[in-house]
Amino acid sequence: MAFNLEKLLRPHIANIKPYSSARDEYSGKAGIFLDANENPFGSMASGSFNRYPDPYQLDIKQKLAEVKNVFANQIFLGNGSDEAIDLLMRAFCIPGQDNIILLPPTYGMYEVSAGINDIEIQKVNLTEDYQLRPDAILEAVNESTKIIFICSPNNPSGNKVNRKDIYQVLDNFNGLVVVDEAYIDFSDEPSFTTELEKYPNLLVMQTFSKAWGLASLRIGMAFASEKIIKILNLIKPPYNISGLTQEKVLEALGNADAIHQVVKDTFVERQFLEAEVSKFPFVKKIFPSNANFILIKVDGARAIYEFLIEQTIIIRDRSKVVLCEDCLRVSVGTREENEAFLKALNLFKP
Ligand SMILES: Cc1ncc(COP(=O)(O)O)c(C=O)c1O
Repeated sequence: MAFNLEKLLRPHIANIKPYSSARDEYSGKAGIFLDANENPFGSMASGSFNRYPDPYQLDIKQKLAEVKNVFANQIFLGNGSDEAIDLLMRAFCIPGQDNIILLPPTYGMYEVSAGINDIEIQKVNLTEDYQLRPDAILEAVNESTKIIFICSPNNPSGNKVNRKDIYQVLDNFNGLVVVDEAYIDFSDEPSFTTELEKYPNLLVMQTFSKAWGLASLRIGMAFASEKIIKILNLIKPPYNISGLTQEKVLEALGNADAIHQVVKDTFVERQFLEAEVSKFPFVKKIFPSNANFILIKVDGARAIYEFLIEQTIIIRDRSKVVLCEDCLRVSVGTREENEAFLKALNLFKP
């Protein structure tokens, strides 16, 4: 059975008439704008913020299309990737009826978003080394399964997911396969955006919050077929990316090559952390990372976490997460921050 987007879509969404904003009805840049009830006199903050921003962020998409080697109409921009996660559930999953498949341990927002939208969750745990179990995933699929979320590199484990397993899921599932690549810039694995032409059931998510260093601006990317992108645009709030954010993201895109240095520095610091952390007797295992953080298995995770907080070093205790018993997740910091973390760890008495 082939992928059928029209069938996957919630029927009422197909019939929705989108809100038509002032900037939808007239998108030209020159003129006297008396159409959107804005304040023509200026802003109460320094800068020019009195006009509504481009609802489709076309300048960003044009530039991003070049950087990511996709077409501009294959790009959706959201208020963080978290907005895309929520919109996908609202577009494709009927509350109280449909389900999605999650692969724990993984990023927490998929479950939270599903909960908010009253979408049932089916969980198929990863293996001990945090790889997919594609046969088990496909067995869990039933006629109400609409989306499978795969995170690669995975959060909180940091590893990249074997490509052949992702292909197996893409080849055998007629719903939507989301590959969340929030950490792809740090990975030696190429992005799945190259597969968009081949797989109409694929949606790739990335974010400006990590390697691009723009977490505070809140902007995430989704790449998919033009048809899927149109659906997300149809149901998003009209001006979901602020003008200030659009301005700053364009600036960052003009400086896209700077990412290479960030990635190099992160790699050097990650190796430094791995080497130094492995010397502590209470460290049992450091999981291989393709991201800007490492997952560390220790003896007594909670005690270490609490001790570090006393030293004002904040990491994540992931011990309560399935397959992460006694695991701590540490983001890669600057050399100064990493040394402060190691110094504090040195003071810990088990
Ligand atoms: C795997 C993964 N996806 C998505 C996100 C959310 O990114 P954004 O800041 O774009 O909402 C995160 C944030 O930590 C993440 O780890």
